[in-house]
Amino acid sequence: MRLQLRNVNRVFRTKAGSVDAVHDVSLNVEPGEMVAITGRSGCGKTTLLNLMGGIDRPSSGSILVGGWTLGELSVRDLARVRRNSIGYVFQDFNLIPTLTAAENVAMPLELGGMKPRPAAEQAREALAGVIERDVADAFPDELSGGQQQRVAIARALVGERSVLLADEPTGALDELTAEVIMRMLFERAQRGAAVVVVTHDPGQAAWADRVVRMSDGVIVETTERSATPTELPV
Ligand SMILES: Nc1ncnc2c1ncn2[C@@H]1O[C@H](COP(=O)(O)OP(=O)(O)OP(=O)(O)O)[C@@H](O)[C@H]1O
Ligand SMILES: [Mg+2]
Repeated sequence: MRLQLRNVNRVFRTKAGSVDAVHDVSLNVEPGEMVAITGRSGCGKTTLLNLMGGIDRPSSGSILVGGWTLGELSVRDLARVRRNSIGYVFQDFNLIPTLTAAENVAMPLELGGMKPRPAAEQAREALAGVIERDVADAFPDELSGGQQQRVAIARALVGERSVLLADEPTGALDELTAEVIMRMLFERAQRGAAVVVVTHDPGQAAWADRVVRMSDGVIVETTERSATPTELPV
């Protein structure tokens, strides 16, 4: 599915004044494409990703996912698009503390109508793909930060959704594990997903077809990748 942002703005009004967190951003991400978003802390990366994922609504401008204008959908239809089409890795993981790792990962599948048993099986497979130790039956607070982050990644990857949005998905991981995760996201794009990854790390941004740099809510630079995938670090 194609992701399109047209002149998107997001203004937060606080007691201290208003913050232009995202200012006049227009951006397309095609199916099969991986885009990295970089920029300093506070420049609006998470705000932009939340808008793309339909978690937050723009103050003005429009966001289209697979031709659907998110702002025109009913609450119910928006929830359906998010559930069926968008995999999201939250910067702070957002795991449900009362569910085990496997139950967290199975959640989007079950919400999509899959029976608990096949959902549980797929969840375990997705987890096994990102964590070597079997953590399926552990609760989030029994896991390390890096393990929790990988549960959150498995939850986004499960079910092959066509848009993947990942907010600093390797922030809690060591370099080698981060590499494995970036490669998985890259492969998902190669299989046709539209992938957006927020990252501070230039090495990780190098996996993307395009690197978009933000500053103060504005896209200030877009760089196309020159290296072919085979030239990327192994
Ligand atoms: N709910 C909110 N209410 C008010 N201001 C907000 C809110 N969310 C974000 N902001 C402000 O919007 C700006 C962008 O924040 P955002 O979280 O998008 O930055 P970021 O680029 O993701 O930063 P980081 O790299 O630290 O995660 C900041 O100035 C922040 O204080
Ligand atoms: Mg952020």
